[in-house]
Amino acid sequence: MRKQIVAGNWKMNKDFVDSEILVAKLLSQHKHAQTQVIIAPPFTNLLAATNALKGSSIDVAAQNMHFAKQGAYTGEISADMLSSVGVKTVILGHSERRAYFNETDELLAQKVNAALENKMRVIFCFGEELSDRKSGQQNDVVAAQIQKALFHLSPDAWSNIILAYEPVWAIGTGETASPEQAQDMHAFIRQTIANQYNAQLANSISILYGGSVKSSNAKDIFSKPDVDGGLIGGASLDAEHFYAIVNSF
Ligand code: 13P
Repeated sequence: MRKQIVAGNWKMNKDFVDSEILVAKLLSQHKHAQTQVIIAPPFTNLLAATNALKGSSIDVAAQNMHFAKQGAYTGEISADMLSSVGVKTVILGHSERRAYFNETDELLAQKVNAALENKMRVIFCFGEELSDRKSGQQNDVVAAQIQKALFHLSPDAWSNIILAYEPVWAIGTGETASPEQAQDMHAFIRQTIANQYNAQLANSISILYGGSVKSSNAKDIFSKPDVDGGLIGGASLDAEHFYAIVNSF
C-alpha cells in the first residue's frame, strides 16, 4: 500500500522564534495517525525543527538544495549539509523555483540524482501553467516534466520519490483544481509511470496534490483514489488548520 502523506511547505515564512512556536504547536496536535506528516521550514530553522521533532513521527524536509557535493557556490546548501542537521527529505522542482530561479528540468534531474545518491527522499513538484490548461496541453506538459527529470532513474530509485502535482494556476490563488481535475491528472501521471516502468511501481508511488488546499476542500480532494495526500503552502503555517487537513482522509 502506498503512503498517505501531508507535507507543509512553509516557503519563506517564519523566523527562528515563530518556527519554534509552530513546531511546538504541531507536536501538540500530532497523534499517531496513519498519515505521514512532513514539514519544510526555511533552512535557518531546520536544525531546531529536527531537534524538537526527534522521537516524533513528523519528518522535516528542506525546500531546495544544490546538486554539487561542496564548493564555490555562494549561497547554496548541499545534501551533506542537510543530512548533517538530520534532514532526510528535500522538495525539488517547486514552480516558484522554476519561475523565479530559472530551475530547468535538466538542472532538476541533477538535483534529484544528488539527493538520491545521498540517500535522501525527494518530494518532486511539477505542474502546468494556466495557459497550458487553457490550451489543453496540461497532460503533455506534466508528462514532459516528469520524463525529463525522473525517467532516467532505475526502478529501485523510485522508492525514495514522492510526486507532488501542483498546477501553477492553483498555487496561492485560492483557486483549487476540482477533485475531478486532480484525480484525472493523478491517474494520468500514474499511467505515464506505468508505461515507462510497470503498473506495480506506478501503484507504489505517492502522488500529492498541491494548490490552495484548505481544511474545507481537503476531504473531497483526498477522497479520490489516485490522490495520496497534499503539499500544503499557506494553510501549513497554522497548526490547527494544518492538522485539520492532515486529519482529512
Ligand atoms: P498554497 O497551498 O499556498 O496554494 O501553496 C501550495 C504550494 O505551493 C505548496 O508547495
